[in-house]
Amino acid sequence: MSRSEATADAATVPSPDAFLSCRDMHAYYGESYIVQGASFEVAEKEVVALLGRNGAGKTSILRTIARAPQPQLRRGSIELGGEALHTMKDYQAARAGVALVPEDRRIIPGITVEENLVLAQIAPSVGWTTERIYEHFPRLAERRRQEATTLSGGEQQMLAVARALARDVRLFLLDEPYEGLAPQIVQEIERIVEEVKRLGITTIIVEQNALAALELADRAIIIDMGEVVFTGTAKEVLDNRELRDQYLAI
Ligand SMILES: Nc1ncnc2c1ncn2[C@@H]1O[C@H](COP(=O)(O)OP(=O)(O)O)[C@@H](O)[C@H]1O
Ligand SMILES: [Mg+2]
Repeated sequence: MSRSEATADAATVPSPDAFLSCRDMHAYYGESYIVQGASFEVAEKEVVALLGRNGAGKTSILRTIARAPQPQLRRGSIELGGEALHTMKDYQAARAGVALVPEDRRIIPGITVEENLVLAQIAPSVGWTTERIYEHFPRLAERRRQEATTLSGGEQQMLAVARALARDVRLFLLDEPYEGLAPQIVQEIERIVEEVKRLGITTIIVEQNALAALELADRAIIIDMGEVVFTGTAKEVLDNRELRDQYLAI
């Protein structure tokens, strides 16, 4: 399938009420031009799967939205809840509620599970309390005094998600949450993502395992060479053999 056909497909999908609106994002690592005009929208409470081959630019897009130091957005805009995220000062952006759980899970080593949760809270009045987190994640309650890096991979993923809830997340960006986990643990993380979905938290999930992500997601956005080549429902992706062959290898 040619790119123009894929774009025509995208145009037929009704645009959701945008909560997140990314328009014409162009972002660079130094002089490397990686995010090449990606545009898409995500509705409030929607769970969207961001798919595409290895190196397509999925992580870079999440990092751009999360305002990671790199890649740097040089053109385009990112709006969250009608506010321009890309022009906010850092302290304002920190309160905007964008939480990226990167592939490396970014928990803080050398301190306990509980200390990780407490440090994630930006203010006592916002975000989930540790008590509420422990109710939802009893496993973390059991391990609260344990040094965080001694947790299993799945438990570290759970802690990374819990840290985002402690910060009062409005937009959840999950980068390959199942990466490197045993199948049994994947199921556990799937349950957590389902819980996040039930809570109505807007989520973008990047996953190599496209089938697992499509099971969960309301919609799929396919990325290739730093831009969007297809937007549609999970069913539209699954029913489209060419799309699957060309971009997903499923
Ligand atoms: N820090 C970086 N500096 C330069 N290029 C990078 C950097 N990180 C990623 N890239 C390049 O950006 C492209 C997209 O990478 P990435 O966003 O990680 O893709 P994906 O997550 O879809 O696998 C790749 O070609 C990758 O080599
Ligand atoms: Mg990636």
